[in-house]
Amino acid sequence: METKLLRGEQERDLQEAARLLRAGETVAFPTETVYGLGANALDADAARKIYAAKGRPSDNPLIVHIYDRAQLEMLTDQISETAEKLMDAFWPGPLTIIFHRRPGAVPDCVTGGLDTVAVRMPNHPVALRLLRMADLPIAAPSANLSGKPSPTAVSHVEHDLSGRIAAIVSGGSCAVGVESTVLDVSGNAPVILRPGGITREQLEAVTSEPVIYATPHGSTVETPRAPGMKYTHYAPEAPVYICTGTPEEIAEKIDHRLEVHKGRAGVMLSRQTLRLLQNADENLVVNLGSRDDLKQIACNLFAALRYFDDSDVEAIYTEDFPAEHIGVALMNRLDKAAGSKKI
Ligand code: TXA
Ligand code: MG
Repeated sequence: METKLLRGEQERDLQEAARLLRAGETVAFPTETVYGLGANALDADAARKIYAAKGRPSDNPLIVHIYDRAQLEMLTDQISETAEKLMDAFWPGPLTIIFHRRPGAVPDCVTGGLDTVAVRMPNHPVALRLLRMADLPIAAPSANLSGKPSPTAVSHVEHDLSGRIAAIVSGGSCAVGVESTVLDVSGNAPVILRPGGITREQLEAVTSEPVIYATPHGSTVETPRAPGMKYTHYAPEAPVYICTGTPEEIAEKIDHRLEVHKGRAGVMLSRQTLRLLQNADENLVVNLGSRDDLKQIACNLFAALRYFDDSDVEAIYTEDFPAEHIGVALMNRLDKAAGSKKI
């Protein structure tokens, strides 16, 4: 299949993307978190094309994207007061809310057969315009091959999915760079199934009740409630190791490893830790940003993981970051990329 490259800032290109979506095809598009791979959420055949293009296990449900609260009616018949408050505060934005699924509303292959449906309204002008033009709820997982880091630039989508999907809409690089927070509000206390762009503290400021993590600090322990969390994720080709300790200890450990690998190792570190390294080859170094700005580090992470796939490094070394605020989402993704390997 030839994949069309469409420009998100061009009206005619967006119309073509909307036409393809309405015709049951798959179209990748930018959001503020990561690029998504969209298809008509009301059409089982269209949704199945997403699973095929990504190589995604079919029990891992998709997030449905909408541009207008009125579209929710189609998907769910139960909107709690807490959900209302959260939507008022964070939509459009990187918060996905799990709702009870209106019987028969979306095909089983979209929800993995669950009686719930995950919904979000992305905060990206291109995504919102495309959703409005298509005027359909659009199922969209991240637009990467299953298991690979999520795409935060159009080149990442082309790399993974060219030839496998109908079109890619461009829209620059993603401002948040980690996926949305997935929140279940169906029980007594709101539960974070996947930490993401909206932090627990931000949620609690709105719910005025405690918000809990499904797993301690959103760690990588399997949680059957967000089925996607149990699969290998975000993994570059080379193994990733998270180095712990003070910045000095981390730099010392990595310098030693770089000697052992005779230059065939990559490092992705904060600016502060990079400054302490002696043995780094500048071609195999990614500066993730300042340790004082974990948002920036989170935003740069997926591109950094992909960078090393174009080199022949034997290993990638990174550092431990504080798992607080956006750092919870950051460390969740980093732990998965590393398969929890720490040194
Ligand atoms: O930021 C994002 O959320 C991006 C952009 C494209 O919107 N999308 C994204 O989708 O990350 P995906 O498919 O890569 O991750 C969706 C996550 C998975 O962990 C999945 O298991 C969970 O949401 N999920 C989807 N529907 C669910 C449901 N009904 N109940 C529980 N978890 C659900
Ligand atoms: Mg994904």
